[in-house]
Amino acid sequence: MGEIDRRSFLAASAAALTLAGHAGAAELPALGPLAKAAGLDFGAAVGPWLWREADFRAAVLRDCTAIVPEYEWKWDYLARAGRRPDLQPIQRYLAFAEASGLALRGHTLVWHGAMPPWYPAAAGRREALRLMTGHVTDVVASARGRVRRWDVVNEAVAPEDGEPDGLRRTPLLAQIGRDYVEIAFRAAAEADPAARLIYNDYGLDAPYGAARREAVLRLVEQLVARGTPIHGVGVQSHLAAADGYDGEALAVFAARLQEMGLEFLVTELDVANPGPGPGPGGAPDHEVAAVYAHYLAGVVEIPNLTGIFTWGLSDRHSWITASQRPLPYDGAMRPKPAWDAIADALRRRAAETHRLTA
Ligand code: G3I
Repeated sequence: MGEIDRRSFLAASAAALTLAGHAGAAELPALGPLAKAAGLDFGAAVGPWLWREADFRAAVLRDCTAIVPEYEWKWDYLARAGRRPDLQPIQRYLAFAEASGLALRGHTLVWHGAMPPWYPAAAGRREALRLMTGHVTDVVASARGRVRRWDVVNEAVAPEDGEPDGLRRTPLLAQIGRDYVEIAFRAAAEADPAARLIYNDYGLDAPYGAARREAVLRLVEQLVARGTPIHGVGVQSHLAAADGYDGEALAVFAARLQEMGLEFLVTELDVANPGPGPGPGGAPDHEVAAVYAHYLAGVVEIPNLTGIFTWGLSDRHSWITASQRPLPYDGAMRPKPAWDAIADALRRRAAETHRLTA
């Protein structure tokens, strides 16, 4: 099957999936229109279950304005068969998103947690640059003009590693040097000048996160000062009901980003809640929803917020054990109180947006 044939086949099959998903969507409440009214993207991490589960797909089509592949666009997955990446997963999600009117967030080009199994433990700067920029260029160019945002680099800071600038000790830092982050962003921008390029990290809302916040701000300030094409920072927002978070520190962090002209995104929101929930609406569901409500009440006040993504939509697929019930839908695709909390936050942002633009 030639390239054109394959693309048209993918588009046709995606369109078929979309039509199937839309059937019956009209009568259910939906987060997507609320997100659009708020001028935000609302999205969720998805996986191959998107193709096989019609009930999950229908919820995505109802609730999301964007999707992010949870693992199939990572270097280790794309290059699992060898040095040349398998780009079929890229094309499949592109076809579905375009047939469904959804935006795509690409996750993630460079992450120490998803290096291909064949990546050399030792390599000189020239070889490491060839491998990293070759991967970034191959992947981003294959979707040129069709991906709204790319998480270019993920989790590059680790103050506990003891580096003076707080960078995480990774093979790419050792092999290329401290400019590997800037080089990755420049390679992505060259491959797709239209894409919004994001730095993504965790623990930036944590009570213990001050050193992480400072290290990320130091990194992005240097990138911006050097004219690096970077457009925003993603805060993963993996919350735990018991741990809490520092909403004030997060607001200050976001304000520093706004001073640099950078977007602020919530990129992997979920709320872990120890212990199995007793069932729909049980105490843990309400505890989880209360964390969503309180966290998002602060987030939707952040002026440079451009998107909220949950890390999955249903407990059926969460990376956190489903018994902790961390997501807006349960395993049977019933919306939970957390779904209502997200809807309320989007309504609040929409009302504020309307007030400001009225
Ligand atoms: O589904 C396949 C299965 O068919 C196969 O048999 C099996 C063994 O190869 O792999 C399964 O895929 C796994 C996938 O999760 C789905 O369960 C991948 O191996 C596994 O690597 C993947 O883990 C992902 C992890 O990142 C590493 O990429 C998780 O889904 C994903 O939730 C997690 O997400 C990360 C973010 O990217 C960065 N922030 C932290 C977050 C949580 O760790």
